[in-house]
Formats: sequence, C-alpha cells, structure tokens
Amino acid sequence: MFFRKSIIALTGLFLCIFLIVHLSANSILVLPEETARSLYNSYSTTLRESPLIKIVAYVLYLSIILHVVYALLITINNRKAKAKGYRVNQYKENSSWTSQNMGLLGISILLFIVVHLANFWARIKLGMGEGVGLDANGHVDVYEVTYSLFQNGYYVVFYTLLMVPLGLHLHHGLKSAFMTLGFYHKRGLRTIAKVSLVYAIIMAVGFGVIPSIVFLK
Ligand code: HEM
Repeated sequence: MFFRKSIIALTGLFLCIFLIVHLSANSILVLPEETARSLYNSYSTTLRESPLIKIVAYVLYLSIILHVVYALLITINNRKAKAKGYRVNQYKENSSWTSQNMGLLGISILLFIVVHLANFWARIKLGMGEGVGLDANGHVDVYEVTYSLFQNGYYVVFYTLLMVPLGLHLHHGLKSAFMTLGFYHKRGLRTIAKVSLVYAIIMAVGFGVIPSIVFLK
C-alpha cells in the first residue's frame, strides 16, 4: 500500500510542477493579440523541437498513466475494505468530502484531459482535425488553434467548469502527497495546508479564466 501511495504522491507532485509551467505558458494568451500570437507560437515551437522537452513529455505521459492506474487500484482496494467493514481513514484530515471523493474528482480531470488532448495534442502533434494553419515562420499556428477553440462558448464553459474538480483535487492531493512522503509535523502540516490551498486556487482560477479572456478578445 505504501509503495502505491508513494507512486501517486511522487507522480502527483511532478504533475503539480507541470501545471505551474503550463499555466505560466498559457498566461501568454491574455496578452494583446499580436504579442500573444508570436510569443505563444515561438514557445510552443521551442517545446516541440527540443529533444530534452521530448523526454520530459514522455515522463509526463508516464506520470499521468501511473498516477491514474495506482489511484484506481487504491480506490478499488478501499471500497473492498469498506465493504468488509474495515476502517479505511484513520485521520481527521482525511475525512473531508474532497478526500472521500478523490476518485470521482480524478475521473472528471481524466475526462478533461482526454477532451483537452483531442483539442490540442491531436491537432498540433498529429495534425488531426480542422483549424491547423501555419504561422509566419512555417510552424503550426498553436495560437490560432487555441483562439478558434475558445470562440466556441461550449468549450469555454467546459474548460471553466472542469477547473472546479481540478482545484478540489489539487487542494487535497498536494496536502496528501506531503503526508505520504513523511511530513507529519503539526506546524509543517499547517503550512503545507495553506500552500496547497493557495496553489489550488491559483491553478483553478488561472486556467479557469483564460478561456473567457480569449473568448472576449
Ligand atoms: C486555459 C487552459 C489550457 C490551455 C489553453 C491549454 C493549452 C494547451 C496546449 C496548446 C497544448 C499543446 C502544447 C503543444 O504541443 O504545443 C497543451 C498540452 C497539454 N495540456 Fe494543456 N492547456 C490548458 C489547461 C490544461 C490543464 C488544466 C491540464 C491538466 C489538468 C492540461 C494538461 C495538458 C497536457 C497533459 C498536455 C500535453 C503536453 C505535451 O504533450 O507535452 N492543460 N495544452
């Protein structure tokens, strides 16, 4: 059980770092049109062409898969244990609505990631679907792909609403990851709880408002 939990914690922390980088990059989208287009496209081209980033991307995909698979295994295990009448959560901190529903929140995020990768990854990397033009430098116009997606109000609502489960999942997940990795000191835990809350709010609000800002451009 500890091994599974540690894998979830370590992959989760790596995904949290990815989200900080991803949000910083996507913040470019709120800049004025021409600046945003050239910065976003050159950032995206640099990412796709760097061999180092390609390795990091494979680590990212592997982390997502391991995080989901081990989380599912633990959720199934806990359900079985509960059905047999065993106590699963021993800590007060672990009995909030969010902690009881991490599986449900995780599945919502997985749904978001599948739609998101079909929207961007499949279009940009595999060249599938419509709206994939080239920019002035002959590279995929990622800004245009993003801009045209967020002209569709349904996608704006979908991207915004799904940031609620993301925020809740990150809030509890970050705290739990530190606890799994051995941070039990009471004062330290209070700081970790505060940092997790601030982190989750920044991620959920940050990713949540970008589609509306692009829609209104
Ligand atoms: C405003 C919201 C977001 C926008 C505009 C956005 C945009 C993008 C774009 C343009 C790409 C393709 C990058 C490229 O290949 O050049 C991408 C990839 C990706 N995004 Fe997002 N994203 C958003 C939110 C999120 C969130 C909340 C998550 C996770 C919960 C996420 C996870 C990913 C993943 C895993 C990839 C694949 C990375 C790779 O292949 O290197 N994104 N996103």
